[in-house]
Amino acid sequence: MNRRKFINQGLLGSSGIILAEQILGVRQTFAAWLENVVIPVRESNDFSKLRNEYLLSSNIIYLNHASIGTIPRAVQRARRQYLDICETNPWFYIWGGGWEEGREETRAKAAELLHCAPGEMVLTHNTTEGFNLLAQGLQLGKGDEVVFSSLNHPGASVCWFHEARKKGFKVAKFDFPVSDAADMSKQEILDLYDRHISKKTRVLVFPHVDNIIGLRHPAKELTALARSRGVEFVAVDGAQTAGMIPADMKEMDVDFYACSPHKWVQAPKGLGLLYIKKDVQQSVKPMWVTWGQERWKGSARIFEDYGTRNLPEVLTLGDAIDFQNRLGDRLKQERYEQLWQYTSTRVEHNEELVWRSPKSWSLASSVYAVEVKGKKSSELARRLFEGHGIVVRPFSTAGLNTLRISPNLFNTEAEIDKLCEVLIAAAKG
Ligand SMILES: Cc1ncc(COP(=O)(O)O)c(C=O)c1O
Repeated sequence: MNRRKFINQGLLGSSGIILAEQILGVRQTFAAWLENVVIPVRESNDFSKLRNEYLLSSNIIYLNHASIGTIPRAVQRARRQYLDICETNPWFYIWGGGWEEGREETRAKAAELLHCAPGEMVLTHNTTEGFNLLAQGLQLGKGDEVVFSSLNHPGASVCWFHEARKKGFKVAKFDFPVSDAADMSKQEILDLYDRHISKKTRVLVFPHVDNIIGLRHPAKELTALARSRGVEFVAVDGAQTAGMIPADMKEMDVDFYACSPHKWVQAPKGLGLLYIKKDVQQSVKPMWVTWGQERWKGSARIFEDYGTRNLPEVLTLGDAIDFQNRLGDRLKQERYEQLWQYTSTRVEHNEELVWRSPKSWSLASSVYAVEVKGKKSSELARRLFEGHGIVVRPFSTAGLNTLRISPNLFNTEAEIDKLCEVLIAAAKG
């Protein structure tokens, strides 16, 4: 951070400078903590040490990062310090340049994460808010159609039905053949969507990675398909992607991309991101309205809420992104693939277990679904947690009876072995 520029932002004279100096102090300490994080080396497979960087209880095997992530210790410490600074003089909150400057830094880091411009990045609270903003803000009416599949999460679906009732457009939701998804090719996925797009389709919605079987949709190709069929807007749910799998807005060419960084970016809960492409911003009406908002015309900032926000938390999101950057995309991609390969092979070699997720890494992610033949997934999930401290999520939707396993980098092969052992014992028992 540029120290002079930062301090000059303070509008409270010497008091503002004190605030800015305090925040800067946390930033500098945080940078030093980051330097001390021991980055695992893939070849030596020492990822378990990375777990020490987190507060996770030693009694649990946490394989549910797709529901909610855990914040690294360094990020959590910085977060506590921001919150403490804030409470020393809450009045600074309103006029202190330190918080405002920090928010814009977070926006810039989020834009870098998603490969877009800061003026295309809305700081929301979660993916659900992002989709509500779109469903309310897009000018849709009679004769228009919004298309998505049954793999779409409710957070990216319910708002469209609600708005459709008010405005008269149609929601064309189709069944994704989830039980056959493991063997589907990229072309079959594209053909499926192609069959459900019509001349009336104005919006296509899909999850980049869905939350049930972790199918990595071919986002770039799906967007190109939608455009070739005359679809005006492509809105993508990136809740399960940001921080786990690279997401490049320019390359995918989508119009909207909503995220929940509390999952794979390991940021504080209740902070979200929404990308709105510059060219389509004028097609969306802000969901929140308040005084002075006009000054943000021409920037995604106009879509943000203007009530009081938890700015110390927003600053922490920037630090969480820094932590992920310190780990590096290459290491993350290699490790996620390695764990996926290990688990899928382990599952496929046991006749009691069935792999329900895509069988090629290019269509898969660190979210996978496993069925235990003849056993109810909800009962198994309870048994895993109560008997062994293993946290996974059961699913019985879309005709499935699966456990969702969603490891992070620091989960180990030994933990996967333990999970499989318990499941096999349960199947035989
Ligand atoms: C694919 C997907 N979309 C949307 C959501 C909703 O996210 P949030 O509750 O943060 O709005 C989730 C949450 O698990 C999800 O997995």
